[in-house]
Amino acid sequence: MNVKPDFSKGRNLAETAPAFLSIWDMESYYGESFIVQNISFNVHEGEILALLGRNGAGKTSTLRSIARMDDPQVTHGEIWLDHQPLHLMKSHEAAAAGIGLVPEDRRIIPGLTVEENLQLAQIAPPIGWSIERLYDLFPRLGERRKQEGITLSGGEQQMLSIARALARDIKVLLLDEPYEGLAPVIVDEIEKTLRIIKEQGITTVIVEQNAVRALELADRAVILDTGSVVFDGAADEVLQNAELRAEYLAI
Ligand SMILES: Nc1ncnc2c1ncn2[C@@H]1O[C@H](COP(=O)(O)OP(=O)(O)OP(=O)(O)O)[C@@H](O)[C@H]1O
Ligand SMILES: [Mg+2]
Repeated sequence: MNVKPDFSKGRNLAETAPAFLSIWDMESYYGESFIVQNISFNVHEGEILALLGRNGAGKTSTLRSIARMDDPQVTHGEIWLDHQPLHLMKSHEAAAAGIGLVPEDRRIIPGLTVEENLQLAQIAPPIGWSIERLYDLFPRLGERRKQEGITLSGGEQQMLSIARALARDIKVLLLDEPYEGLAPVIVDEIEKTLRIIKEQGITTVIVEQNAVRALELADRAVILDTGSVVFDGAADEVLQNAELRAEYLAI
């Protein structure tokens, strides 16, 4: 089956929605199976949005769809970032438009030092934060600038992966499980950095299994369940609603 994307019936959200990043009626699939269906939500400029849901709910697929990765294929709907139609773009164009995806596996480039990993991100414009500014944000990376990236600890690799996204001129940071496998003290450190990044005006979408930590950081939350949005509202509302948490987050 090879369904061509049909955006002809789409509503032009850029004209109607105030949101910075808008996902409207998005549908994506791998091969023949639909993964997310009729997903719509907005992300406001400067906020941190927690995208939550149980294993297999479609969180990673949603981030990959927004970043216009090859898989899953977006077959319907619209994705707008600051009046730019991401749904009409390929992944490198979405990156140039301001999407910074930090994937779960971190993708540190073997054979390159910390600094070379950052320099590689700045090989072409638009360039974001300077390398010195990134070392101010993550002093551990500055201390290890000559060390091969893949020999860093898990937490340091996560920091490098976030720093590499910021090394480009991004508008939105998409984080897929940034706390996974990290000790609580390192999670504290990364969380503190994410607050600083927010203060600098970057909009963030965070996917996390550690939902409580993500909700404490986030302004708003969207919860997915079997590929559909089942909650869209304030992060505090989810923290206070035990029923909602038990039903969709199993916490
Ligand atoms: N490459 C793929 N090919 C086919 N199906 C896939 C692929 N990747 C994910 N899926 C399926 O898509 C659905 C959503 O997966 P996704 O990875 O988006 O969920 P998730 O919410 O990120 O889950 P987790 O919390 O486990 O990371 C699942 O049913 C999964 O099995
Ligand atoms: Mg996932």
